Amino acid sequence: ARQSSLKGKRIMITAGPTYEKIDPVRFIGNYSSGKMGFAIAEECAERGAEVILIAGPVALKTSNRNIHRTDVESCEQMYRAAIGAFKDCDAAILCAAVADFMPAEVAERKIKREKEDLVIRLQPTHDIAAQLGKMKKANQKLVGFALETNDEENNAKGKLERKNLDFIVLNSLRNEGTCFRSDENMITILSKNSRKKFPKKSKAEVAKDIADELEHALG
Ligand code: C5P
Repeated sequence: ARQSSLKGKRIMITAGPTYEKIDPVRFIGNYSSGKMGFAIAEECAERGAEVILIAGPVALKTSNRNIHRTDVESCEQMYRAAIGAFKDCDAAILCAAVADFMPAEVAERKIKREKEDLVIRLQPTHDIAAQLGKMKKANQKLVGFALETNDEENNAKGKLERKNLDFIVLNSLRNEGTCFRSDENMITILSKNSRKKFPKKSKAEVAKDIADELEHALG
């Protein structure tokens, strides 16, 4: 294998959705499969990095010995695991589709049907990316993802700045047959001064492009 500048680096990756409990049997979730994050974890591990994978509830397995996996369910749990691991990492790639809101209280018993209507009050979750952006040291790199339905590049650029990211991977919901649950993806990588648009590829191939960009950023 060719020499990679990721060899020996410690890279944290968040992947998958989060589930936010409503009652003992229900949750608020999203369609993320975790495939993109797991593909990046495999690619970085193959290049010799030590990967800390923090995974939400997904149906995926990992095989590479260089991947150290922690399974979590909620944003709160993912937040704690990520904050704890980041200080010893050279970079973090935040691929997880984290819930932005969670139920303000969790019902102790299963909510019953016999009601006129049901209101579930939500409160904001921690923004893991923004918090890591605040903790980030000069020698650490932080990579985010953006999934937008409109005004994609401007929204992604806003996130890049607000969350203090080194680059952001934009995937648009407009592209048919890409993104959630799909095995393919079509991305644009945006940094402060650059913009790279890639064609539709398998997630394994997309992971290579992202790993290349990270190698470049780490120097
Ligand atoms: O603001 P938005 O959710 O669109 O930002 C997306 C980026 O921020 C992704 O990299 C995602 O993993 C990360 N994020 C996070 N914690 C949240 C929400 C988003 O780390 N609570």
